Amino acid sequence: MRVLVVGGGGREHAMAWALGRSPRAERVVCAPGNAGIAAVADCRAVAADDVAGLVRLARDERIDLVVVGPELPLTLGLADRLGESGIAVFGPAAQAARLEGSKVFAKDFLRRHAIPTAAFEAFHDADAAARFVRALGAPLVVKADGLAAGKGVFVCQTVEDALDAVDQVMRRRVFGDAGGHVVIEECLEGEEASFMVVTDGTTVVPLAPAQDHKRIFDDDRGPNTGGMGAYSPAPVVTPALHEHVMRDIMQPAVRALAAEGIAYRGILYAGLMVKDGRAKVLEFNVRFGDPEAQAILLRLRTDLVEIAARTAAGTLAGLEVVWDPRPAVCIVLAAKGYPGPVEKGAVIRGLDALATWSRGMVFHAATKATPAGIVADGGRVLGVTALGDTIRSAIDEAYAAVAKISWDGMQYRRDIGRRALPRA
Ligand code: AMP
Ligand code: GLY
Repeated sequence: MRVLVVGGGGREHAMAWALGRSPRAERVVCAPGNAGIAAVADCRAVAADDVAGLVRLARDERIDLVVVGPELPLTLGLADRLGESGIAVFGPAAQAARLEGSKVFAKDFLRRHAIPTAAFEAFHDADAAARFVRALGAPLVVKADGLAAGKGVFVCQTVEDALDAVDQVMRRRVFGDAGGHVVIEECLEGEEASFMVVTDGTTVVPLAPAQDHKRIFDDDRGPNTGGMGAYSPAPVVTPALHEHVMRDIMQPAVRALAAEGIAYRGILYAGLMVKDGRAKVLEFNVRFGDPEAQAILLRLRTDLVEIAARTAAGTLAGLEVVWDPRPAVCIVLAAKGYPGPVEKGAVIRGLDALATWSRGMVFHAATKATPAGIVADGGRVLGVTALGDTIRSAIDEAYAAVAKISWDGMQYRRDIGRRALPRA
């Protein structure tokens, strides 16, 4: 099979790597890819949001299966356009991708189908939103409706902060059109987990649970990011919680989509808040988490080409997904300034020393090959991902690898996986 991976981040490196290991992958192409992905796929300079360009590329390269990494092309209708061209695709249609593309749509969907989530109201008028903030009182959460690269959510401890968030999102439009509407919701307490399933619209197969680290600094301080590290499995997802999430959230969600006429094919990701053995949905994503994918895919023993092809074909029933029992930890190395504007172009030192690393992978998230060497080319630059016999040894193995890598301005969290330790 000829497979095209869409995207150019750490998640896509992990996906291209996992797909390339399949005996069924005759060829792996990636658009646009990055300097790390170039080692496992043929990279083509087509942007991940260039829907027409991607369809053309898939035709030109006689691609059998397109595996979509990021949400943006899905919300723009890439799966729909590929489907019209008769090309199999792993990733949902635009109508379904609204679960991630619009928080108002997602929250209304959750409410309509009585799937557990934080109480909320949606607003398109900034004054009405501000009045609601004052009436509700802090703490509360303000969310820009549209896509904002994980940065459009403000967890506010005071009414003033919440009013400022409404102002930034709706009046100053710091996220552009994403701020046309806001969701204002109850602030939930508990521990977060990333729960992903793969579904063909009927069969729902859980993937290994993972935990992300959203804040930029240790001890969950500082602003939200796209994710600074991850580990899998997540001990907070006990067998009982797993059953509850499948029964009360994931299966009802897929059934509800089908009932609304949406045949969902791909990954459905629920960001959960867990408290007292119950989970509520914080958000839906319509794709693999990044950096959860890096940790999860290092543990995947089942052929990813088979999973993706059967999802696309609607023949997932009976699929058995097998995991390496060993935990995996991914530590994100980010550029100076992230999650704000970053400096690009610093030469990364130490990658060669890890070229033959046997207990992990350095997944590239934003890198570029230049005559001077591989350089940092974005906010999240690398995802150093290791397996260990225990979560402790996976953490140690990953940080030992991190210690070999450096560039000017490199920053990372020192506490990835720590929350999993007392329970491990
Ligand atoms: P989201 O993109 O909706 O998952 O939000 C990003 C992050 O904001 C989540 O991972 C949580 O850490 C936090 N968050 C979102 N919604 C809530 C909520 N209702 N209560 C508390 N924290 C939240
Ligand atoms: N790591 C969180 C996300 O991919 O949305």
